[in-house]
Amino acid sequence: MAIKFEQVNYLYPSFDGSNFSALENIDLEISEKGEFITLIGETGSGKSTLVQHMNALLRPATGSVTIYGIKIQKNTNKNKKIKLNPLRQKVGLVFQFPEYQLFEETVLKDIIFGPKNFGVKEDVAIERAKEVIKLVGLTEEYLERSPFNLSGGEKKRVSIAGILAMEPDILVLDEPTSGLDPKGRDALLELFTEIHKKLDKTVIIITHDMNTVYKYATRVLVMHDSELVFDGNASELFKSENIVKWNLDLPDIIEITNQLEKKLDISFNTKPHNVDELFKLMKGVL
Ligand SMILES: Nc1ncnc2c1ncn2[C@@H]1O[C@H](COP(=O)(O)OP(=O)(O)OP(=O)(O)O)[C@@H](O)[C@H]1O
Ligand SMILES: [Mg+2]
Repeated sequence: MAIKFEQVNYLYPSFDGSNFSALENIDLEISEKGEFITLIGETGSGKSTLVQHMNALLRPATGSVTIYGIKIQKNTNKNKKIKLNPLRQKVGLVFQFPEYQLFEETVLKDIIFGPKNFGVKEDVAIERAKEVIKLVGLTEEYLERSPFNLSGGEKKRVSIAGILAMEPDILVLDEPTSGLDPKGRDALLELFTEIHKKLDKTVIIITHDMNTVYKYATRVLVMHDSELVFDGNASELFKSENIVKWNLDLPDIIEITNQLEKKLDISFNTKPHNVDELFKLMKGVL
């Protein structure tokens, strides 16, 4: 098991001295290969806090997170001696806000920073930068630009390129497609699917888009009020009555199917994933 959470609790300190409990008793296991996980849940439910534990950016207040055999616990002296660099190379995390990740004068310097830090030679890192900038839908010309003068969507792409250049085993992306136009969003999701399928890597994506969840996820995690309340497949989730309680939407195709069933007073025994499947179901009952 690449990542294992055991009874993890996390507290953010508040100004008034009281602590805010952002993670409560999280137990979770993630494999190194073969998973395409979407992590969902309403705003403030603890998603970003959870993924920042996956490469030891945050450490549990109680409990532990074991990442590739290294047990991360509360900030003890023992833990301070642990080298975190290898973990951060293995589990690449793209932040929700690219501004947190971009800090160099040029896009190129930003992208090669990670690989160089992990011991890759500069010329090899530059070659990688030229590849990944294209993978995320930008051109080589962007490499000489300042990351601070880019649009929101371009910054997002550069921050993703920086993590791809590190060639992590597990790719964790915190809302990677928010703020992108529909074409750009689809292209990036296809890229992540390719990384998952061709390179057999685990990809974890935080998203608020239920269509993405239904189309791509092999496994869905739901956070609600700092707790992990669901760990299973999407079809099972969208059948569950709890989605109302957890403030989640339905994917468009399920919403449309539900309305059709109601209006036509019919009931299908499964829910379709796309229009073709819906059409087949309709042919079966009409
Ligand atoms: N640095 C911080 N200090 C104090 N509280 C914080 C801090 N960061 C987050 N929180 C609180 O912890 C809770 C969980 O935040 P988190 O960012 O993990 O939510 P999220 O599920 O990623 O939400 P969103 O969908 O809006 O990105 C929120 O209530 C938030 O206000
Ligand atoms: Mg978040």
